[in-house]
Amino acid sequence: KMSGREEFAGRWAFILAAIGSAVGLGNIWRFPYIAYENGGGAFIIPYLVALLTAGIPLLFFDYAIGHRFRGSPPLSFRRLSRWTESIGWWQVLICLVIGVYYAAIIAWAIMYTWFSTTKAWGDDPATFLTQEHLQVAEDVAPNLDIVPGVFWPMLVVWVIIILVMGFGVRRGVAMASLISIPVLVLMFLVLVVVALTLPGATEGLNALFTPNWAALADPGVWIAAYGQIFFSLSVGFGIMITYASYLKKRTNLTGSGLVVGFSNSGFEILAGIGVFSALGFMAQASGVQIADVVESGIGLAFIAFPAIISEAPMGALIGVLFFGSLVLAGFTSLISILEVVVSAVKDKMGWGRWTTVLVVVGLSAVVSLAMFSTTSGLNLLDITDAFVNSFGIVGAALVSVLVVAAVLGLLDRMVAHLNSVSSFRLGALFKVMVGVIMPIVLAYTFLSDFIAKLNDGYGEFPAWFVNTFGWGMVLSLVVLAVLLSLIPWSKKSNLHQEH
Ligand code: PHE
Ligand code: NA
Repeated sequence: KMSGREEFAGRWAFILAAIGSAVGLGNIWRFPYIAYENGGGAFIIPYLVALLTAGIPLLFFDYAIGHRFRGSPPLSFRRLSRWTESIGWWQVLICLVIGVYYAAIIAWAIMYTWFSTTKAWGDDPATFLTQEHLQVAEDVAPNLDIVPGVFWPMLVVWVIIILVMGFGVRRGVAMASLISIPVLVLMFLVLVVVALTLPGATEGLNALFTPNWAALADPGVWIAAYGQIFFSLSVGFGIMITYASYLKKRTNLTGSGLVVGFSNSGFEILAGIGVFSALGFMAQASGVQIADVVESGIGLAFIAFPAIISEAPMGALIGVLFFGSLVLAGFTSLISILEVVVSAVKDKMGWGRWTTVLVVVGLSAVVSLAMFSTTSGLNLLDITDAFVNSFGIVGAALVSVLVVAAVLGLLDRMVAHLNSVSSFRLGALFKVMVGVIMPIVLAYTFLSDFIAKLNDGYGEFPAWFVNTFGWGMVLSLVVLAVLLSLIPWSKKSNLHQEH
């Protein structure tokens, strides 16, 4: 063996860990309303096009980099070329930022699993969420007024994460998915079956799946499809590079990628069915249109669902299954995001697993609690999420595709590498997708979002807040990524090793 890099026990451990990363909050609460708002049944077309032309090719692309160069993103990109190391650090920083707020959402879901048993929100879940559960302050400025009902579950989340990650790739990271994915699938299937039996479920499904073909002429719908695919597959920002770096030398990469890609989409469709059956019930029970009960994002899970749970037969069961699924799906995704940071620091400094986890995840926990367990947490989470998604994820994917495919002309080497180890072989079509289609789609998405935020700001937030925590945050990450690439590597990291 050339290095002591940790490894997955086998291909299935890797596939399960990759599915654990991909299946997350995005499947359960993001896909259903994105599909509904963007053409309903007709959305399946841009969605599949995005999956096949960008999602799966980008997944292969990440696998190729991670497996070929066998390192965390900074190390892999450093081995690729001295000049691209900062791309890897940019991805690491994006993961760090997402990780610190993702933990808060998991903590809320833990509390709501419990709240479901007593329907603690009474008959006004919206007020309950902002006033009682999160105790959102009037003033958007960050403060340190801790909300105990958020702080304690967050602390529990972080302690569990530290323990699991400390056990390493095989006994921690892979084991977490091995246990939670089957439980999650089972729980969610039961949830879908229960939801399908609710009165009004059919109308809900009709609302989701009735195609609005006119939507296909709207470029916004196509952008939404590509955006959903990038976020949902966890591609383009380092996670899949990291996981692929833990694979043995001969591993069927493309075959695994297809399993991961289609499992993730399968789970999205399933979630769409479950969520819209429940929404159909709610609309019927309150005598309104489906459109009046659909909420997006946090509101769907933490306002619309509580209302359903209060009304539905077997409501408590639905609540425990729904929020329990969010918790499980969120945990394995959070582990995958933080593993990017842990592996990068471990490679750079040459520290051991426990030291790195205690330092990196411990510090993340402190920042996470200070920012998101306070009465200013919700607004900070909102702005961070918006900017990190628009510029971080899409920006990271754009830069890595442009630099690797277009500037460095490495696509041929990547394809050769994938084909040398895999069952499903790639050819010219793959190169066209990664080298032509993806840069265009990503650049268009990036620029349109950039211009929109530049012109309109974000939400109702005051300009100073958007400038500091939106633009300021993104800019400081860019600077930090460059600075980190200047720190020398530990002697233990051989900068020239490849598979
Ligand atoms: N892919 C995950 C989902 O669909 C989200 C995620 C984002 C996972 C960032 C890891 C990192 O919810
Ligand atoms: Na997903």
